[in-house]
Amino acid sequence: TDIKNTAGKKVLLASPRGYCAGVDRAVIAVEKALDHYGSPVYVRKQIVHNKHVVSSLEARGAIFVEEVDEVPPGSVLVFSAHGVSPAVVAAAAERGLNTIDATCPLVTKVHREVQRFAAEDYDILLIGHEGHEEVEGTAGEAPHAVQIIDKDDSIAAAKVRDPKKLIWLSQTTLSVDETMETVLKLREKHPTLQNPPSDDICYATQNRQVAIKKVGAQSDLVIVVGSANSSNTVRLVEVALDAGAKASHRVDFASEIKEEWFEGVETVGVSSGASVPEELVDEVLEYLANRGYGDVRTVQTAEEDIQFSLPAELRKELKAAG
Ligand code: F3S
Repeated sequence: TDIKNTAGKKVLLASPRGYCAGVDRAVIAVEKALDHYGSPVYVRKQIVHNKHVVSSLEARGAIFVEEVDEVPPGSVLVFSAHGVSPAVVAAAAERGLNTIDATCPLVTKVHREVQRFAAEDYDILLIGHEGHEEVEGTAGEAPHAVQIIDKDDSIAAAKVRDPKKLIWLSQTTLSVDETMETVLKLREKHPTLQNPPSDDICYATQNRQVAIKKVGAQSDLVIVVGSANSSNTVRLVEVALDAGAKASHRVDFASEIKEEWFEGVETVGVSSGASVPEELVDEVLEYLANRGYGDVRTVQTAEEDIQFSLPAELRKELKAAG
């Protein structure tokens, strides 16, 4: 090999990266539903925010729809990992759909917090991205009690009825640092603002951010694999840049990588969002190896061994089928 071509070049591979327990469970739920019920199995919204995962499941007979009213009565419908509001659950029941709820248990946890604090007549400031499916589902638990805090103008606009009953909650896939800044701004205006009973930003989001911080601080270029609509993926690009990476780009596939990114680059960081299958990362590593970046070192900041059992209604159905 050409020594000049590889000298000093290396890859720092962030760990943890890729699939979280909630995504793994949601994808397996659709696969098992397809095996068990046969095609078609309907899925409301993208099961997880990843192009490759969605097209692979489509090829196996899943049909992705935006809303419940697109699904023929009597069909099997899976709710995505991002969760749904009670209104959507009711619409599906009314239509006579056989539903499987693949909402991540860590999203469901936030739904329960909304229910609980709304029942106690709190004002809930839900920090998250306006229009994101998870935020719509979570806010939908108690639309009268929840105000979505996205940009600075929503901080200024927040209305509080009783300062003693005020809490912030959040979307599960935000930047930890940015969220803390938002909380500080909110607390400046509302000093009695209470913290959530436990972290709403999930373990997977936090772990991937910690890992990419370490990688980003030592990299000239950081490549993050994941889709544009994946919140946690987009945050990883921002966190890498904040940590000191000179450049960072998101790609769905290795084929989207551009030659010009590598000018003067010695160290390339690599990570992937929580909805990204490892084969897509392998393709990126292969691309890099072919360009002299074959020396791959893993930067591990945590170990993950969390697993969630399949949705209860699916478990029951599979058990009854033997
Ligand atoms: Fe759940 Fe966090 Fe994954 S909320 S779906 S474990 S990114």
